[in-house]
Amino acid sequence: MDLNEQQLRNRLAGRAIGGTVCFFPEVDSTNEVAFELALTGASDGAAVVADTQRSGKGRLKRRWLSPPGCNLYTSIVLRPPLKPALAPQITLVAGVALAEFISQYCRGYVSLKWPNDVLIRGKKVGGILTEMKAAGADIDFVILGIGVNVNMKKDSFDESLVQTATSLREETGGNLSRLDFTVGLYDSLERNYDMFIREGFSPVRDKWLRYAAWMGKRVRVVFGGEVLEGEVMGMGGDGALLVRDGTMAVKRIIAGDASLREG
Ligand code: ATP
Ligand code: BTN
Repeated sequence: MDLNEQQLRNRLAGRAIGGTVCFFPEVDSTNEVAFELALTGASDGAAVVADTQRSGKGRLKRRWLSPPGCNLYTSIVLRPPLKPALAPQITLVAGVALAEFISQYCRGYVSLKWPNDVLIRGKKVGGILTEMKAAGADIDFVILGIGVNVNMKKDSFDESLVQTATSLREETGGNLSRLDFTVGLYDSLERNYDMFIREGFSPVRDKWLRYAAWMGKRVRVVFGGEVLEGEVMGMGGDGALLVRDGTMAVKRIIAGDASLREG
């Protein structure tokens, strides 16, 4: 197998992200394993990697297809010195880190779909799921879960995903070492997460906007039982999606599902 605990430990020794790493051949969800580890005191930057997930999770109890032997499924324990209201910005930080890293393989074709999808040529190659536990008015920990389709073949995608999903292998024509990929991704995460903690969200927002998909496009956003249609205007200083509705009012969407409208 091109991914195992000893190799991960050798390559990640001493790093802020992944310096402590556990590898599992199979888990229900790396987010769940990391959550349990964090509850029992796992330190900032501790990482969990699995070869396959029995029930990989997307947002809102959706499933993340997680076949063995080909992709990256990882969750990282973070203990940021932030208030809980800022935790969603970590999803955007991770999106930037993933987009920057993947751009090495297909420069110019990578984009970010608010809030948590990474796309190549408009197809989803990776997703981010952050889960938080607060401690009073502070964050106790955030679990940053990242799934990336690295070497998955087109015929392994469910019928429902064939049109909308892709992998790095499909886009670049070759298999990648999952070990190198994991180490490189953690590097990029470390750089961008450090920048976020030191300088705040503003430089993250600048980078995010360089990759932003759907700028100026018409979208339909579903959030908290409400539906809004309008044009994507940008991102607020806090990471909210800005959408201009039919009355020309600009709405701030803090959490929701966005899909593209034709025309
Ligand atoms: P969507 O991708 O439908 O806009 P989303 O980005 O918000 O939604 P989630 O709500 O987290 O994603 O749900 C995960 C979705 O990702 C699933 O509904 C499925 O469509 C898609 N998906 C599942 N597994 C994979 C995978 N391995 N690669 C790409 N997409 C996947
Ligand atoms: C999305 O749908 O966009 C988010 C998907 C997040 C999937 C990753 S895979 C590793 C981690 N463990 C999970 O159960 N989910 C995340």
